[in-house]
Amino acid sequence: IKKIAVFTSGGDSPGMNAAIRSVVRTCAYLEKECVGIYRGYQGMIEGDFKPMDARSVNNIINKGGTILKSARCEEFRTPEGRKKAHDQLVKEGIDAFVVIGGNGSFTGALKFNAEYGFPVIGIPGTIDNDILGSSYTIGFDTAINTVVEVIDKIRDTASSHNRLFFVEVMGRDVGHIALNAGVGAGAEEILIPEQNLGLERLLESLKRSKASGKSSSIVIVAEGDKIGKNVFQLKEYVEEHLPIYDVRVSVLGHMQRGGSPTCFDRVLASRMGVKAVESLLEGKSNLMVGIRDTKMVLTPLAEAIKAHTEIDEELIRVSDIMTT
Ligand code: F6P
Repeated sequence: IKKIAVFTSGGDSPGMNAAIRSVVRTCAYLEKECVGIYRGYQGMIEGDFKPMDARSVNNIINKGGTILKSARCEEFRTPEGRKKAHDQLVKEGIDAFVVIGGNGSFTGALKFNAEYGFPVIGIPGTIDNDILGSSYTIGFDTAINTVVEVIDKIRDTASSHNRLFFVEVMGRDVGHIALNAGVGAGAEEILIPEQNLGLERLLESLKRSKASGKSSSIVIVAEGDKIGKNVFQLKEYVEEHLPIYDVRVSVLGHMQRGGSPTCFDRVLASRMGVKAVESLLEGKSNLMVGIRDTKMVLTPLAEAIKAHTEIDEELIRVSDIMTT
């Protein structure tokens, strides 16, 4: 392998730049050529490539987003799209790629490898922390810190007005952001897809907390929660069934995906980039780099895309105890 491509794909996450930087600098260190591909698989199909050296990634470790841009690409799901992408890679003399992204991006990489035998390694980059094979994905730590910072602010106004706030956080299929940020910010209740609390129990819990002397409350709701109502409908429901509360809603949205990455995410991304390039050069492919018990590990991409990481039951218990 002489030339390695790197790109970001799917939803962006803070720390992706640090991962790009790491891949590029590892290539430079090992005297391999490196090419950045803009806009993920879309850019691969269109041949939107840029040679990168150690100096191309100066001053990006602290930047949110991704300098290579990201995209979700429908065309790459088709054999014709993948053929065009392969032609472009061959034309550019690229021997292998590192894809930084989530489940969808890894599925594409696996298909591509199955069709063309092209060496691929994945780095998990998503704020959702939902990828099997790594205790942490790049961007998760930054996202939960952002959420905690914002909820601290919401708490100020909630307690000044004795209000109940429903705060919606990201997590399409999983509740890791909600649960971790919820415990960190001292939420009253945390609604996650992995555990359907039910409307009755939510009302009971809110009643109990009022009776116990709490004047304000924060309820965190993961966007993929299965309670059957979104945050606005929850507000109406509680106002109707529990008029003791003055209720407000805050949807945090895409601000959770932005911002300068935390030190944890920068270090994680740096380690993962090195491991990804070294793995390719050792002749490995179809693997995802991950971290477990502070050690870098490799998981077959086919395993990583099979399921989402399970929620931490012990943390749910901690959260229950903390809301006493
Ligand atoms: O990056 C994952 C995620 O943050 C999900 O939690 C969320 O549902 C999704 O991205 C929204 O992404 P977009 O608006 O880019 O489709």
